[in-house]
Amino acid sequence: MKSSGNRISWLLAILFLSIAVAQPLVADQEKQGKCETLLTQKCEACHYMARICEQLGNKSLRQWKSTIKRMVKHGSKLSKDEQQELALCLSIMPVGAEIVCQ
Ligand code: HEC
Repeated sequence: MKSSGNRISWLLAILFLSIAVAQPLVADQEKQGKCETLLTQKCEACHYMARICEQLGNKSLRQWKSTIKRMVKHGSKLSKDEQQELALCLSIMPVGAEIVCQ
């Protein structure tokens, strides 16, 4: 019964591979979910999301960081980590992203 043992190790290998491949996807989705929460909770208080939507694709990571710093000065309450995370999300968010454009 050597061949069935082989089949099981193949199945296991495929299982591990698909988990390894799926992991970053899950992490990405979690990150996006977190950014979405931050955006709706911390950014929508003062202006429409449209204001953010307009800027997608226009700003580098550094520019987003400085925009967000300015928002914090305006009164947005974000921890250092949250600022970092949001700046990263916004700098890679595609133009017209649903999260901020709908
Ligand atoms: C306390 C009020 C307040 C909050 C909260 C706030 N903003 Fe703003 N935002 C402003 C004001 C006032 C302006 C216009 C003046 C300016 O640009 O500094 C503005 C303008 C902007 C602009 C357009 C100007 C530019 O530099 O591109 C963007 C983009 C922006 N905000 C993003 C955000 C993001 C992202 C958040 C969440 C982290 C946020 N804002 C939260 C007050 C706020």
